[in-house]
Amino acid sequence: MQLDPIAVKAGVRLRALAAVGSTNEEARLSARRGERGPLWITAAAQTAGRGRLDRSWVSPEGNLYASLLLSEPSPLEHAPELGFVAALALRDAVVALEPALAPPLRFKWPNDLLHGRDKCAGILIEGEVGTDQSIAVVIGIGVNCTTHPATAPDRPATHLGAHLGADAADITPQRLFRELSATMCQRIETWARGTGFSAILHDWVAAARGIGEEITVRNGGGEKHGRFAGLDSSGRLILELHGGGTERISAGDVFPFELARDGHGSV
Ligand code: BTN
Repeated sequence: MQLDPIAVKAGVRLRALAAVGSTNEEARLSARRGERGPLWITAAAQTAGRGRLDRSWVSPEGNLYASLLLSEPSPLEHAPELGFVAALALRDAVVALEPALAPPLRFKWPNDLLHGRDKCAGILIEGEVGTDQSIAVVIGIGVNCTTHPATAPDRPATHLGAHLGADAADITPQRLFRELSATMCQRIETWARGTGFSAILHDWVAAARGIGEEITVRNGGGEKHGRFAGLDSSGRLILELHGGGTERISAGDVFPFELARDGHGSV
């Protein structure tokens, strides 16, 4: 694994590991030990990869597993915005390697990357309080480059190489990471500790799936049905409820309304 020169110039460091439990966990442990970001931790494979909502993330060799530790990246209330920042940076990186993938690559709220309707990458944002009480944020990114799990708990999955024919070998974890280390610097700069979040949201919405459609949101065992009206200025999903009224949702899984009953849908 190597950083792009843009990242090196920005003072970003890299720790590339063979196999670990979870790169997010490694980054959190580093923060607990007082280490400061920006630091990328990558692994060739994970034995205890984790996903959003307490799910596991299947992590064999051949795909990308990377976590970026940032020290005090913004006031606390802006930290969740980093999921949108990371999703954009990831899409930028894939498109820089394979421009033909731009049209089918879309975002699924809150921060999945889809190819068509199928999930090809996920992002997990976690926080940590350092020994000096400073706040650290870990942005964990998993990308299916060469394989994908046969059964995913939340939606159909795919891998990027499956859509590239003879060019499949172009999307390696190494090439993708190098691009990502640069595009992440660029998108973080635009975000500007949260003051530039409206520009980030604008770009995210332009490539989002499901806005304007009927959806079901599952969260904490409950389900809500309505129309996905858009995002508010904090990135919360605005749901116009079927029963009347509007709700702003901070976390959950989104499904097309009709498919939500069997759990196999994805917006
Ligand atoms: C999701 O549920 O969609 C988020 C998946 C995030 C997986 C990545 S792989 C690298 C990092 N380390 C982890 O344990 N999880 C994240």
